[in-house]
Amino acid sequence: MALFPKPAEGSWTQHYPDVGTGPVSYQDCISPEFYEAEREAVFKQAWLNVGRVEDVTDNGRYFTKEIEVANTSLIIVRDLEGQVRAFHNICRHRGNKLVWNEIPSAETSGSCRAFTCKYHAWRYSLDGSLTFVQQEGEFFDLDKADYGLVPVHCDVWAGFIFVNLAKEPPTTLTEFLGSMITDLAGYPFEEMPERYDFSADIDCNWKVFLDAFQEYYHVPSLHTQEATPDARPQMMKGFEAPHYQLDGPHRMVSTSSVPRRLWPANFQYPIEMETRSGLFGPWNEPDLGGEMSGTNPGRIKAWAADNFQIFPNLEILIWASGWYLVYRYWPTSHNTHRFEGTLFFPPAKTASDRAAQECAVVMFKEFALQDAGTLVGTQQGLDALGSSSDFPLNDQELLVRHFHKSIADWVASYQGSGVNV
Ligand code: FES
Ligand SMILES: [Fe+2]
Repeated sequence: MALFPKPAEGSWTQHYPDVGTGPVSYQDCISPEFYEAEREAVFKQAWLNVGRVEDVTDNGRYFTKEIEVANTSLIIVRDLEGQVRAFHNICRHRGNKLVWNEIPSAETSGSCRAFTCKYHAWRYSLDGSLTFVQQEGEFFDLDKADYGLVPVHCDVWAGFIFVNLAKEPPTTLTEFLGSMITDLAGYPFEEMPERYDFSADIDCNWKVFLDAFQEYYHVPSLHTQEATPDARPQMMKGFEAPHYQLDGPHRMVSTSSVPRRLWPANFQYPIEMETRSGLFGPWNEPDLGGEMSGTNPGRIKAWAADNFQIFPNLEILIWASGWYLVYRYWPTSHNTHRFEGTLFFPPAKTASDRAAQECAVVMFKEFALQDAGTLVGTQQGLDALGSSSDFPLNDQELLVRHFHKSIADWVASYQGSGVNV
């Protein structure tokens, strides 16, 4: 007996008949050839989120982003006129990496008025123009206007900075995001600049990890410790989400629950009661002005969180209690990736606020590690099985099903367009 009503078709999966109900192949997570196709068809075509406007608050602020899957490094900068721009991080003289600190392959950030190459000191303004060439008279017919930094398409939506590595993006950023995502534009993301960043290199395909953050079927078994011993019998009955929604290649799921602060005392851990916080965030909810634009599209009761999966590799998880999480998954090979997780909160006003945020942060890290450890084992299992097995997915795994289909559709569509991948 379902806890929440299902769509008239009988299940969320059948409500979206294009995704089918049959077993799903994970060949797309073990095949080096598919990875090569995905690099071209997905990561060099889709809009990719590389950061937030808070990363470049003032004119002159910049950061670099290593995007191994597209074989490039980017500079993201707010130029001296205030425009956010993106460039390939490559000097036009002889190809030296332009912006780096102590280790060329490590990302860096800072503030400057111009970029100067460490090799022969060519200098670029923050709008990408080449402004200075050492011993310019030694060159032959060099026109500096021909040697600016190579720009990358860059746009900002709701404070999220996106880039697109295609020569000409197939769609604008807004068209790409679609209405389910752009409806969130009024959400007060900018009220939450207090952030905690994590990044980890993980030995599994990026989709294997992303899948674990778009279904909650695994929560009672893998994250048993989320519940106190007294609460576990209730938890072990299983998890059900009240609302799923697909929009183009993007997808979301909402969850519903009574706020943790209202649970019986024996269902709360001592640290939760002490800090008034935990895995689901601080208990004292900030006043965000009441308007939670675009959230809870299913209008479910006791709404707890929305988990928006933005194609291909971005997740925004919005908590009803007034904070949000961002995950990004950057492939580094067919069976490895770099995971980035950031928690965003309103500024802490008191020491108690800070303790509550930090409790949520360490809990997040603990539970993400539970996923990460398990999913390395999943990759090993998938690699060992090879292509010999397809996997049954249930109705709570609709988003997993949709994700792998969306990836396959993008690869097929790109290959069908006549471009060799
Ligand atoms: S490679 Fe940059 S100035 Fe020579
Ligand atoms: Fe998990």
